[in-house]
Amino acid sequence: MKAYRGNIIFTPTCESFEIIPGGYILVDDSGVIAGVYTSDAFAHSDEIEVVDFGNKLLTPAMNDLHVHAPQFANMGIAMDVPLLLWLNKYTFPEEAKFADIDYARTIYTQFVDELVKQGTMRAAVFATVHTPATLLLADLFHQKGIGAHIGLVGMDRNSPDNLCNQVDEAISGTEQLMDYTKDYPLVNAIVTPRFVPSCSPEMLRALAQQANALELPIQSHLCETPNEIKWVKELEPEALSYADVYHRYGLLTKNTLMAHCVYPSDVDIALLQQTGTTIVHCPTSNCNLTSGIAPIRQLLDAGIPVTLGSDVAAGHDLSMFQVMQSAIQVSKLNSALHNRQIASLSLPEVFYMATKLGGSFFGKVGSFEPGYEFDALVIDSDVVWQNSENAHEQLYTRLERFVYHGNVNQIVKRFCKGKEF
Ligand code: GUN
Ligand code: FE
Repeated sequence: MKAYRGNIIFTPTCESFEIIPGGYILVDDSGVIAGVYTSDAFAHSDEIEVVDFGNKLLTPAMNDLHVHAPQFANMGIAMDVPLLLWLNKYTFPEEAKFADIDYARTIYTQFVDELVKQGTMRAAVFATVHTPATLLLADLFHQKGIGAHIGLVGMDRNSPDNLCNQVDEAISGTEQLMDYTKDYPLVNAIVTPRFVPSCSPEMLRALAQQANALELPIQSHLCETPNEIKWVKELEPEALSYADVYHRYGLLTKNTLMAHCVYPSDVDIALLQQTGTTIVHCPTSNCNLTSGIAPIRQLLDAGIPVTLGSDVAAGHDLSMFQVMQSAIQVSKLNSALHNRQIASLSLPEVFYMATKLGGSFFGKVGSFEPGYEFDALVIDSDVVWQNSENAHEQLYTRLERFVYHGNVNQIVKRFCKGKEF
């Protein structure tokens, strides 16, 4: 048993931060939180080692619910064209390189290291169609000791020949991945049809059946750009909407993550609501590819769960703090564009999306409550002046400052299920 002392700040709900200046988090030997305390009144036992982080902030670690590991080498470059051109010009050629296991090892090693550096302890990851490289990615997460849902991508139409797989290859790749990770406590397989334009009806149907039979989560892309949506209408004329294509094949579930949703129709929203599908908002990506502003407040008001993703390499940075900041900023632009009739997102709302809600896809992760796995960051953030004598307000300001203006060197420690980095 260990007790970590620091300025605790987290979001048990999306409404507000819970702030405990100089509080203690008691963590058992399996990395699970036994209790959260405002004083050391519990610490009578000699068996409890107290680790004191002094005046630093102690927050839950970040969860990235949408990221493409094989696009890591393209991070921060090649944003001059919108989605469909970007895929063909930059992204597919880069992903095709992952047929080479040595190249995969180089890039995937850097990717996992950078996730840890940025304070992201769990991620829902797209790999590629290549099974050996995808198994290697699972190994790298396991060896590092952080958590992931890893997707062997299914894609069999409208894509380069060297980046397509057959339906049976996609199915057996995911099966192998599931088998390969069965003794990796923090790493799992996630069924991953790339998006409707690159998946035949047979591919979508087979992957839905597999997810259902093996009780696996699902991830894909939804309503990212107008041209993509138009194309989906042409490809699947029977469907009532983009989400309805996924729904018809059985891919919208309580365990489904759909990235983007920038242009949902009323039918899309009703289907997401009905099926309990989670949307992953990727605001940096939506800016970089000129995709648009996702109507997040409207989705939240409809009761649709919304988490956050970096979507590297359409997103330009793995830092979920940058993604949070971007989510607030684009929501303010959206508010301005609608005469301020739509409320922008608050800091606790986006923090909750990146911690407790995002974490819920990985078990009891993302909050400082008894029974939650201890995924945490120790952040050295100070402000040059203080706007308040009130300790709670001061800590809020220090976190706000870090979200907007922090850098990775201020993250002085990271924990994933109690394991320290
Ligand atoms: N839609 C299909 N594939 C992709 C991808 O790799 N990135 C993004 N942003 N959207 C996609
Ligand atoms: Fe994506």
